Amino acid sequence: MRATVFNGSPLMDEGNTSLILEPFIEGLREEGVAVEVFYTQRLMVNPCLGDLNCWTRTPGECVQEDDMRMLLPKIQQADIVVMAVPVYVDGMSGPMKNIVDRLVLIVEPFFEIRENHCRHPPRRGNKHSKFVLIASCGFWEMDNFDPLLTHAEAICKNVNWEYAGALLRPHGEALGYMKRKGYPVQDVLEAAKQAGKELVRNGRIGKETVQTVS
Ligand SMILES: Cc1cc2nc3c(=O)[nH]c(=O)nc-3n(C[C@H](O)[C@H](O)[C@H](O)COP(=O)(O)O)c2cc1C
Repeated sequence: MRATVFNGSPLMDEGNTSLILEPFIEGLREEGVAVEVFYTQRLMVNPCLGDLNCWTRTPGECVQEDDMRMLLPKIQQADIVVMAVPVYVDGMSGPMKNIVDRLVLIVEPFFEIRENHCRHPPRRGNKHSKFVLIASCGFWEMDNFDPLLTHAEAICKNVNWEYAGALLRPHGEALGYMKRKGYPVQDVLEAAKQAGKELVRNGRIGKETVQTVS
């Protein structure tokens, strides 16, 4: 199995998001998954130009010569796609959203009805990838993730991915602080690793594991 993972925090490995992402990746790797990690901070992905030429003039291809050319096959052929992001003003960080917008070419410009809803058919060559959201936010209430969660589930329906679960850690600063100070947070980090293993073994992340991470 192959996983294409995005870390959407500008703080990369030093950020709060990475505290949950890293053990999750470890869990995937221990189950034999080939994981490739991309940091949006290091990528050059321009915003979508909005002309939809990737549907009409050059079907399935974007005219922009940036890192999306290298990323697209890695996304289209991944068994698992992971987006790990900090909550920024109730949504995902901007560079991550640029990548999501540029995914419009992985669907066809036609319409079909799926589950009683108008959708675009997936372009041939796309895997029906499993999708995992990992997110960290600053406030401590879980409802701070609601807009992002709704968005993630909608993205999956839009591009025909299977939503496989979310690892959400509120009060992000606290976890890093507690880890540095030696507070007992090992259960949280172990659960994040367990989540990676469960995804591979069972195709989904268990409820209890999700709760322990949060
Ligand atoms: C520009 C910006 C906007 C933010 N907006 C929110 C927000 O709307 N709600 C929230 O709970 N936290 C918000 N935060 C806090 C971050 O989500 C939080 O600190 C997170 O743990 C950062 O993850 P990172 O260290 O991996 O970048 C914001 C932080 C920044 C820098």
